Amino acid sequence: AEIMKGKFDHFMQKEIYEQPESVVNTMRGRVNFDTNAITLGGLRAYLPIIRRGRRIVFSACGTSYHSCLATRAIFEELTEIPASIELASDFLDRKTPIFRDDVCVFVSQSGETADTILAMRYCLERGALCVGVVNTVGSTISRETHCGIHINAGPEIGVASTKAYTSQYIALLMMALQLSEDRISLTPRRNQIIQGLLALPAQIKKVLDLDKSLQELANTSLSNQRSLLIMGRGYQHATCLEGALKIKEISYLHSEGILAGELKHGPLALIDENMPVIIVMTRDSLFAKVESAFAQITARKAAPVVICNDDDDSKFLKHVKTIRVPKTIDCLQGLLNIIPLQLLSYHLAVKNGFDVDFPRNLAKSVTTE
Ligand code: G6P
Repeated sequence: AEIMKGKFDHFMQKEIYEQPESVVNTMRGRVNFDTNAITLGGLRAYLPIIRRGRRIVFSACGTSYHSCLATRAIFEELTEIPASIELASDFLDRKTPIFRDDVCVFVSQSGETADTILAMRYCLERGALCVGVVNTVGSTISRETHCGIHINAGPEIGVASTKAYTSQYIALLMMALQLSEDRISLTPRRNQIIQGLLALPAQIKKVLDLDKSLQELANTSLSNQRSLLIMGRGYQHATCLEGALKIKEISYLHSEGILAGELKHGPLALIDENMPVIIVMTRDSLFAKVESAFAQITARKAAPVVICNDDDDSKFLKHVKTIRVPKTIDCLQGLLNIIPLQLLSYHLAVKNGFDVDFPRNLAKSVTTE
């Protein structure tokens, strides 16, 4: 195991640092950057059925669930197929109606998560088309679904999922791009996204350069805190939930991802000068709304750390700590924004001497219901 970690102290750290390459492996042979075409061989024969489906139901657990949330808006925008997203355990508890003309997608790094497998078998029994999005070739979900996409991120050892998240995100995005290839009016949008994917690996490397400053944040203002709120909206809601999950999983710090639009419906009561907050404010069409959330929390004396674009010269950013990431297309920005939170969770855990790769009470793959 020591040899496999190479120059890294932990598998999680190695896997975070692998992301400039793992995202390329997910796209290899599937994205043609010259012609802006997508080819997902594992779905090809089923594309007409998926396009005819009356809805798409995504089921997953943990980080895999967050990758579905992160791509839902772009999926619906490009395909115009209504998408719902289910936590696999809740989906089973509800015994929700599923029909032959439903398309059900099961997203799982391991392909062995019991709740997701049971949800898949429930949908298979009801005659729905079942699609797997998995990392582990030959896993139960990969074998039992009708078709699917292997995310090809390479083996992930750290219990806290990192590179699988960014690769699932890209796999789901490629699925949306492929499904929408015959929609001529969307060509400019699709081409822009595909060219954004081309630039992504170099941008991820730039985000990884923030490592030292995130370590410092973990060792200074965020050290010895009891709680940490992470807020944002739109595309970045999933980033907040996934960032908070990383932090609670390995640094045992209570952390909550909050949809900024819900702030006024409860979480605002938690805000005072002592409550640590991270707010995700990269530029997209919702920026003004997030700015208003920023104003609401600073009016209550919170001193948020802001994740923003590296070229953002807004005046109000001069008075706060910032984590500056490169700008990309709105629907891809979450791929860059999650990385500082992965690194932050890592450093919070290391600082406290916790077992980063094997956090207490958790398993890499939960094979019981
Ligand atoms: C466990 C792991 C998480 C993972 C979840 C879903 O809870 O600790 O990191 O996100 O299972 O796993 P899957 O293999 O289905 O993606």
